[in-house]
Amino acid sequence: MTHSLLTTYIPHPGFVIWMTGLSGAGKTTLALALEADFRRRAMRVERLDGDTVRQSLTRDLGFSKEDRDKNIERVTFVAQVLSRNNVAVLASFISPYRQMREFARQQTTNFVEVFVDASLEVCAARDTKGLYAKAMAGQIPNFTGVNDPYEPPLNPELHLRTDQESEEESVARIMAWLGGRGWLPR
Ligand code: ADX
Repeated sequence: MTHSLLTTYIPHPGFVIWMTGLSGAGKTTLALALEADFRRRAMRVERLDGDTVRQSLTRDLGFSKEDRDKNIERVTFVAQVLSRNNVAVLASFISPYRQMREFARQQTTNFVEVFVDASLEVCAARDTKGLYAKAMAGQIPNFTGVNDPYEPPLNPELHLRTDQESEEESVARIMAWLGGRGWLPR
């Protein structure tokens, strides 16, 4: 998206909303809704998403543990640079390993871990990209939740049950959390 140089942004601190969860749990959906909300508030926002980042910055990487770790290491660098320059960063990555999410937390400014949680059954039933059917038929090796691990957050700032609450409720909970921190412009 291009923006006019004349856009007046409202000052706010940088932060990183790090959405972790299974494929199909709703990470991208929530990130898109938050992005629209932040723009309405004239905030500075960038969205980093697994599906798009993996077509550019990390297109050389696959889904082994080593490659997933590299994926998160590189996007953490981008989130670090943006968040320290007062940008609201929306990061949506499966990021199945606790250790790498901890790394992202340590490296960035105002890291907020959001567990976007829906049961494997619900994600597989949604199967928005048709990947679960393939994975369950044994056609995709290392598919998170099917034949590859997902380590749920132990102490996330927010735990959203997207199989039990609406998109609007989830967005409202994140906005309320940010407002409580004083990170939203008035
Ligand atoms: S991460 O594990 O490195 O954080 P990331 O979020 O960037 O993953 O990418 C996940 C996306 O890649 C999924 O939403 C899905 O569309 C696609 N994908 C393709 N193969 C796999 C796989 N083996 N496991 C998980 N996701 C996969």
